[in-house]
Formats: sequence, C-alpha cells, structure tokens
Amino acid sequence: MSDEKANLHLRDATYDFDVIPANEGNHGINISPLRATSGAVTFDPGFANTAATKSSLTYVNGAEGMLRHRGYRIEDLAEHCTFLEVTYLLLMGELPSRKQLDAWTAEVRVHTLVNEEMKGFFDSFPRSAHPMAILSSATNAISTWYEAYYNPSDPEAVAESAKRLIAKMPTIAAWAYKKSIGQPYIYPRNDLTYVENFLHMMFGLPVEEMDIDPVIAKAMNVLLILHADHGQNASTATVRFVGSTQANLFASVAAGMNALWGPLHGGANQAVIEMLQAIHDDPDATTETYVARAKDKNDPFRLMGFGHRVYKSYDPRARILKGFADEVLSRSGVDDPLMEIANKLEQVALEDDYFVSRNLYPNVDFYSGIIFRALGFPSRMFTVLFALGRLPGWIANWKEMHEDPTTRISRPRQIYIGERTRDFVFIEDR
Ligand code: CMC
Repeated sequence: MSDEKANLHLRDATYDFDVIPANEGNHGINISPLRATSGAVTFDPGFANTAATKSSLTYVNGAEGMLRHRGYRIEDLAEHCTFLEVTYLLLMGELPSRKQLDAWTAEVRVHTLVNEEMKGFFDSFPRSAHPMAILSSATNAISTWYEAYYNPSDPEAVAESAKRLIAKMPTIAAWAYKKSIGQPYIYPRNDLTYVENFLHMMFGLPVEEMDIDPVIAKAMNVLLILHADHGQNASTATVRFVGSTQANLFASVAAGMNALWGPLHGGANQAVIEMLQAIHDDPDATTETYVARAKDKNDPFRLMGFGHRVYKSYDPRARILKGFADEVLSRSGVDDPLMEIANKLEQVALEDDYFVSRNLYPNVDFYSGIIFRALGFPSRMFTVLFALGRLPGWIANWKEMHEDPTTRISRPRQIYIGERTRDFVFIEDR
C-alpha cells in the first residue's frame, strides 16, 4: 500500500481512499469503505473499470498488445513449452524443471480415464447436442465421484480435483465429439503426450492404429497454450464468482464453461467461421457488405473475432495465430478459401475509420477457427477447444482466490430504480 490517496468529493464531504499500486498496468483505488462512509456505491456496467481482485497470474497490456503469464511472454511460452508445462507454471507459479515436469506429467497421466458409468451419461444426450452443453454437464457430473475433494479449504483436496479435471477434460471433450458423430468412445492412451492423447481420442477408431501428425500435434499444443489464461475475462470471473460461495472446483469450472459458451466470449470462434462461411456461400456478399453491416448501429450484427475489452491494439495471440494459420494450411496442404476471406476482411476493417477510431483489431478467435478447421475439428467443437485450453487459467484463478485471506463472497450492489412502496391490490381489483 502506498501513502497516495484518492479523494472523492460528494455532497459537501470529502472521502479519502487508499491507492493500491500495481507492479504493471492500472493501479487501483480501494473503495471498500465507500458505502459505509458515504452511503454511495459505484456504478460500472460490465465492470470495465473495476478490479475484483489482485492477481499474480497474468498481465495483459491492452495498449501495447502484450500478454504474459507469471512474467513470461506468451510468444516464448507458445514457442518453447508444452501445454502441461504452462499449466504447471500457472498453477505452481514457476516453470518446472525437467524432473518436476516429468513428475507432473506422470501425476496427471494416471487420471485420464473417466468412470465407465460416464458412457451412459454421454449416451443420454441427443446426437444433435452441442458439445459445450455436454462438456459443462459432464464436468459437473464427474464431480459426483469426487465428493471427498469438494472442500476448497483443503489444499490436498484442491490439488486432487485440479489434477483430475486437467487429466479428464480431453477425454470428456473427445467423447462429447464422438457422441455427436455416433462413433465409439476411444479410451485414453497414457503412453502419448497430453495433446497426442487428445487427438487420438478425437480422431482415432478402435479398428485401426492412428498415426498422429506431429505438425497437427504441435499446432494443437500452441493453440491450447494461447488460450491458457487471460486475466478476469467473463468465464474466469464466473469461476471466481461461483468459487467465492465455496462451491467446489468442478462446479465452479462448469459455470465458467457456460459463461465461455456465449458468442461474445469463447463462442466467437464458432461464430467467426460461420460468418466467413456465410460470406463464402452468398454470391451477393462481399467483405465490404459485412463491414458495412457491422458499422450499422441499426443492425445487431458485429464483426465476429474483432474487438476486445482490454486490447486496444492487435491481440498478440491473434498475431501468433495469423502466422501460424498460414504455416499450418501450407504444411497440411489445405487450401481453405475462408483464410482468404479472413485476410480480406481484416484488411478492409483495419483501413476503415469506424474500426480504426474504436481500436477494433482481430482477437484470438479470428484466426483460431481456421486452424482448428485445418486440423479437422468441426466448428461446433471450437469453443470446447477454447475451454480445454482455458482450464488451467480457471483453476489457477480459483486457487489464487481461495489462498487469498481477504476473499469474500462475490456480491455486487445495485442502484434500485424501481417502484417505491405500493399498497397491495387484491386480485379481484386488478
Ligand atoms: N463489430 C462492430 N463493432 C464493434 C465490434 C465488432 N466486433 N466490437 C466493438 N464494436 C464497437 C461497439 O459497437 C462500440 O461502438 P460505439 O462506441 O459506437 O458504441 C465500440 O466498438 C466499443 O465496443 P464495446 O461493445 O463497448 O466493447 P466491449 O469491451 O464492451 O466488448 C467485445 C468487447 C469483445 C464483446 C466486442 O468487441 C465484440 O462484441 N466483439 C465481437 C465478439 C468477439 O469477437 N468476441 C471475442 C472476444 S476475444 C476472446 C474472448 O475473450 O473470448
């Protein structure tokens, strides 16, 4: 805490508030005593100016387009790490040594199977079920086998829950997909890496051996790392919110998945591909007509994969993915017409004053779908892949919240604008 104070003048009184310095980025004004001393509350729709927590996990510099986890640049992590290594970094605070990584990998690996009875659970969904609905339901469902680990104040129980979620999520995600295409569920193989095992369960069949293309495995690894954490986004804030009630880790993560599903958040990756496909399929549509629609305030349409609450410059994840999309498409020999449309759309938008003046740039979801498509994933699985990547961020935030002794149940206030007291009217008289 610094000696600096922020002053608020309200109705002839002055109130002093402590300033909380940040190591980097926005400092905070501690308004905790505001309501008790002044009778007022703050009003901040979408919490755009509100820090709900202090955190040591991830720093996003929106003005300069920088992202770091525990101080390490996302570009370095994406190039040099495995996803489980980044998971370790987020959860434990440091990059693991070789020995620590081997031990961590082994600990996760032994939990990849889900209970056999879960097959009946997957079977009970309609074939047409969206895999995000299955994913969040299954995350809640597997918790029923781990009631012994529900206590958020027991570090051992939390560590066991975290390991199981990380180990079983690829199995759940792949089985949600297998359910949707009517193929047999493929059991995990613990001799494979985390990413290889996921690809094996997604695309393998029990009738033949599957060769896992190292280019695809590398791309998948990078994609998961790029989604691993991102500060207090809507889904992570939801995980913390639910966790603040002392709900268990499984329930909190399942809630975060539902927040992620929306098209303004993780669901944008599916929406981007659908938008690009619609432009492709409509002979009368051009990128210009879509940009014009996005600018029209009477049209609810938004350019999906563009804009971000924090980034007011190019999202560094989108920059990595754009280069990566070209590489994956050319190395896998895929000639995707949607890539050309995406490039054109970006070019038109970035030269348009509407987008320039509002600092609207491509975000992570703009190019991720094109790569997911090239890797063979259907668009309805894209948000599931985002969730698989974001899982360590959710868990690390949930853990950090519970380790902070100042944590209280999340419970915002409101400014009531409804009716004052009215006399009750009996039903015959209404
Ligand atoms: N297309 C057209 N206009 C836009 C867009 C867009 N994609 N994004 C923002 N704007 C406009 C918005 O209408 C507003 O204009 P004005 O100042 O005239 O009212 C201005 O830009 C500021 O936008 P905002 O809605 O106040 O910004 P926000 O911080 O509340 O919303 C956002 C951020 C990501 C929800 C929004 O940019 C958006 O809807 N983008 C499209 C969906 C998308 O790609 N979501 C993925 C986000 S990144 C990955 C993730 O975290 O999940």
